[in-house]
Amino acid sequence: MKPNIVLTAAFPAVARDLLANDFEVVEHPTEQSRSEEEMITILADADGAITLLSDPLTRRVLSSNPNLAIVANFAVGYNNVDIEAAREIGIVVTNTPGVLTEATADLTMGLMLAVMRRIVEGDAEVRATGRCEWEPLKLLGSSLQAKRLGIIGMGRIGSAVAARSYVFGMEVVHHSRGRGMPLEELLATSDVVSLHVPLTAATRHIIDRDALAMMKKGSYLINTSRGPLVDEAALCDALEAGHLRGAGLDVYEDEPAVNPRLLERKDVVIVPHIGSATEEARNGMARIAATEIVRFFRKQPPLHAVT
Ligand code: DGY
Repeated sequence: MKPNIVLTAAFPAVARDLLANDFEVVEHPTEQSRSEEEMITILADADGAITLLSDPLTRRVLSSNPNLAIVANFAVGYNNVDIEAAREIGIVVTNTPGVLTEATADLTMGLMLAVMRRIVEGDAEVRATGRCEWEPLKLLGSSLQAKRLGIIGMGRIGSAVAARSYVFGMEVVHHSRGRGMPLEELLATSDVVSLHVPLTAATRHIIDRDALAMMKKGSYLINTSRGPLVDEAALCDALEAGHLRGAGLDVYEDEPAVNPRLLERKDVVIVPHIGSATEEARNGMARIAATEIVRFFRKQPPLHAVT
């Protein structure tokens, strides 16, 4: 009998193609905010699964099916998985690092440019008026040149952002696992702060009210990592008070919901968690996730194990 593999969303076709010969594949429609009960139901007959970053893979879910042997999470982040429980139960968990580094770094630069050069405001104005009027004082933003970029988390993506930022003439400093510049100094002296750490108990609200107060007046915050790194209510207060000049956000504290206070602000550029949304990156992620499943059932070691 072929092992059952559950795809909890419509992933790029390459995943199904790689699994087609050796497995019974069941694909579910892409859905946000699944409950534990829904997860237990869709994983009931699974020997393995490719899962979404929003699927709650809690201890209860992971222990609900004794046949579930591998979860290939379709993301580099795996904060949706109870890793300790997976380890204890003996379920292999894998992720998809590397292939989305450049795409996420590109989007980080896109958000930086969009918010600092007020690109979205300009787009809205031209669409609303149907005109392009040149004015000496219109939509004045901030240059990237000679600004200090403070990168929190100098891993693959943080380093790729640094490489791009040098080309824009920025000075780059970083804080990473206790290395580099002390966090307080980075916050107090950077013109732009960009977040590239994973979400863990230690990094949740790393940008809280105190951290925001420490940030330089008139600086910008960019987040393409995970929403709960930032206390969004405190961020809205800092923007409203004019302490921060703007923010570029790809991720939100309560995804899929977005704080309505953010939606009202012209100084915030908001996109829907699209850091890895290039054909190249998403195909690469699908290939990695499916390959992990194939290797597991051939008794080969995982390439990207997080357990
Ligand atoms: C990830 O991989 O963790 C991103 O958030 C989505 O690609």
